[in-house]
Amino acid sequence: MTPVEAELRRRIHSDGPQTVATFMQLANAHYYATRDPFGTQGDFITSPEISQIFGELIGIWCAAMWSVGGRPASSHLVELGPGRGTLMADALRALKLLPAFRDTLDVHLVETSPLLRTAQQRAIGEAGPKVHWHHNIGQLPDGPLFIIANEFFDALPVHHYVRTSNGWHERVIGVQDDALQFGLSPHKVPEAAIPEAFRSAAEGSIAETSPDSLAVMRQLAGRVARQGGAMLVFDYGYARPGVGETLQAMKAHAFIDALTGPGEADLTAHVDFPALASAAREGGAAAYGPVNQRDFLLGLGLLERSAILIRQAELEQALAIESGTARLIEETPTGMGILFKVLAVTPPGTPTPPGFGTP
Ligand SMILES: C[S@@+](CC[C@H](N)C(=O)[O-])C[C@H]1O[C@@H](n2cnc3c(N)ncnc32)[C@H](O)[C@@H]1O
Repeated sequence: MTPVEAELRRRIHSDGPQTVATFMQLANAHYYATRDPFGTQGDFITSPEISQIFGELIGIWCAAMWSVGGRPASSHLVELGPGRGTLMADALRALKLLPAFRDTLDVHLVETSPLLRTAQQRAIGEAGPKVHWHHNIGQLPDGPLFIIANEFFDALPVHHYVRTSNGWHERVIGVQDDALQFGLSPHKVPEAAIPEAFRSAAEGSIAETSPDSLAVMRQLAGRVARQGGAMLVFDYGYARPGVGETLQAMKAHAFIDALTGPGEADLTAHVDFPALASAAREGGAAAYGPVNQRDFLLGLGLLERSAILIRQAELEQALAIESGTARLIEETPTGMGILFKVLAVTPPGTPTPPGFGTP
C-alpha cells in the first residue's frame, strides 16, 4: 500500500469518505515531492522538455508584453510549477538578446516540491537574475508580474458533483471490499455550489470544478490588472464548458486506474478554460483565448526559429529539433498542437497580445 493510500484510509476511517479534491491534493503533493517524473525514463513529457524553442518564444512574448506595458524599470518573471526549470532557463537564455528587459528582472518560482526546486536551481544556474522560491502565490512580491504556467493548473485539485434524481451530490472516495472506491456523499450539495453552466444538466451528469484554480487565477489576474505585467497559461483542456469528468492518472507514459497506487502516478484533470478566463475577468484583467498551442506557436515564429537552429546543427541534432518542433504543433485531435490551449491575461486596455490574433 502506498503512503498516500495509507493516509487516505486513516482519514476515511476517522472522518468518513474523502472528496476527489482531497485525494488529488494528497496524491500529487506526494508524487511531485518524491520524484522527477519527466522524460522517457519518467511518466510523461512536457513541451519545454521537447524543444528549447518553447521557452525561448515565451521569454520573447514576455518581453513584448513588458514593452507594451510601458517598460517598467523593475519587474518579476514568475513561473508556476516550473518542473525541472527548463522553460525558465530557455526563456532567460533567449532574453540575453533583450538586456533592456532582462536587466529589470528577478525570477520567482512557485514550487511545492523540494526535489524539483533543486533541479530548477541546477537548470537556471548562477549566471541568471536572482531566483526566489515560493510555496504559494500569496508570497509573490509587489510590482509588475510576467507569469508563465505550463501544465500547472491541470495538477490542481478538482471536485466532482453528480446530478441525481434528488439533486447534486459530491463524488467521494471510501473503502469497500478493502479497496478504494468512488461513491456519493449522502448530503445534498446546494445548487449555488454548482457552476451555473452545469445547473440544468441531465440526471447522471458529473460537473467537474476546480475552485483552487479559479482562486489562483482571480488573485493573479487582480495583481496583473492593478500592478502591470501579463500571464500566459498553457494546458490541455476544453475551450467550451461541458459536463463530464476528466480525472486521469498517468504512469510510465500510459493511463492507469486513478485509484490504484495513489501518489505514484501523475493525477490531472482537463482545464476548464472558459471558467479560468471568467475568473481572470472577475479579477479585473482582460483575458484572450484560449487558442490552440499550434496557432499560438506558429504565430510567434516557431518554424522560423526552428529553421535557424536546424541550419546551425549537426544532422542528428537537426533531426531532433525538427521532430520536437513537429510534436509541439501536432494537429491530430490528441496531438499537443490541438489538445493544448493557451490563455493570456493582461491589464485592461492592453492591445491584443502576440499569438492571439483579434480579441
Ligand atoms: C506537470 S508539472 C509541469 C512542469 C513544468 N511546467 C513543465 O512544463 O515541464 C507540474 C508542476 O507543478 C508543481 N506543482 C503541482 N502542484 C503544485 C502546487 N499546488 N503549488 C505549486 N506547485 C505545484 C509540480 O511540482 C511541478 O513542478
